[in-house]
Amino acid sequence: MSALLTRSSAQERAGDFDIERLRRHFPILGEKVYGKPLVYLDNAATSQKPQAVIDALARFYSKDNANVHRGVHYLAERATEEYEGARAKVQRFLNAEHASEVIFVRGTTEAINLVAQTYGKAHVGADDEVRISAMEHHSNIVPWQMLCEEKGARLRVAPINDAGEFLFEEFEKLIGPRTRLVAVTHVSNVLGSINPIRRIVEMAHARGARVLVDGAQAAPHLKVDVQALGCDFYTLSGHKMYGPTGIGVLYGRRELLEEMPPWQGGGDMILSVSFEKTVYNKPPYKFEAGTPNLAGAVGLGAAIDFLAGLEHDALAAHEADVLAYGIHALAEIPGLRLIGTAHAKASVLSFMLDGIHPHDIATILDREGIAIRAGHHCAQPLMKRLGVAATARASLACYSTRQDIDALVAGLWKVQEVFR
Ligand code: ALA
Repeated sequence: MSALLTRSSAQERAGDFDIERLRRHFPILGEKVYGKPLVYLDNAATSQKPQAVIDALARFYSKDNANVHRGVHYLAERATEEYEGARAKVQRFLNAEHASEVIFVRGTTEAINLVAQTYGKAHVGADDEVRISAMEHHSNIVPWQMLCEEKGARLRVAPINDAGEFLFEEFEKLIGPRTRLVAVTHVSNVLGSINPIRRIVEMAHARGARVLVDGAQAAPHLKVDVQALGCDFYTLSGHKMYGPTGIGVLYGRRELLEEMPPWQGGGDMILSVSFEKTVYNKPPYKFEAGTPNLAGAVGLGAAIDFLAGLEHDALAAHEADVLAYGIHALAEIPGLRLIGTAHAKASVLSFMLDGIHPHDIATILDREGIAIRAGHHCAQPLMKRLGVAATARASLACYSTRQDIDALVAGLWKVQEVFR
């Protein structure tokens, strides 16, 4: 995993990056909104799709569609090859040791619920603890709350500082002998903070706890290596990394997946069924009951190919450059307060404007063709910790540019004029 670069080195290296060429892969970026060019800065909610992903979906349905693992006919075999090929691409993308460690799910939310309902149910008991951080998305809070309520266990929350940084020493003090699981985000969807996952994993493992990492916001930006991170579970959502909606991944270490009970029952997750007893299939199939999102998986594979075709260091430098440019540009706007000023930060610019509600900011920007998100960003406890009800949030992707930031800044001046 490589952290994003500092401004000056990023600027030097981003020089080689052909952003106009990259943008041409994304047809929607040529759209107009209210007659104005679209400036899409809501990438943490969902990213746009390159033509290769759109084509992969159309191709699958036009040429390859059949159910997988079940038929002996030509198309069934071709669809199975495509689907399992997508799994192998995810394996390489995450540097997982085995393809069987990659489970296709609907997205990060489903992946976390799966772990809570299987590993969690089997290993978290009365008076045990699940430990999360104060910057988690609801999808990395609620499944653990549900588990803890059911089991009589406790959900405990590690603090963050005012910059939105994970407080490692505080966290370490809180990990006790009853901590069974630590669930933390790799990159915060509100603050952009990049958390020290490797250190967290080492410390949690030394205390006998397992670690799940919410990688939804990290996977589009960072090089993720689950073996280097050492985590037990890693989750991601295809739609945030230029793939389709409705497809995501749970990575789990093989020995854990093997001993975990299944979650949903149905076809494909079995070896044999009788009315007396069912013998379950091996991972990953044990956790993929029913017909999976085949086209989605193929589309995610195409998104991974697309990302693999970009030079990672140049891309990271470009994203760091636009982020740093955005931080500096927003700082020039009177009354604007950036929320989330972590030293290690990726691609998210949350902010408040004095006396103007974030929803008003987003609505006025929308009329300028600029898409941002306003609200609590599915992180209400974090909002409470920050002492705000909502923020405005501009979030970046590989195709974001300094011009997008200039448009945002011009739009924010207009917002201020409206409220003057
Ligand atoms: N988790 C997504 C976001 O942050 C929906 O906007």
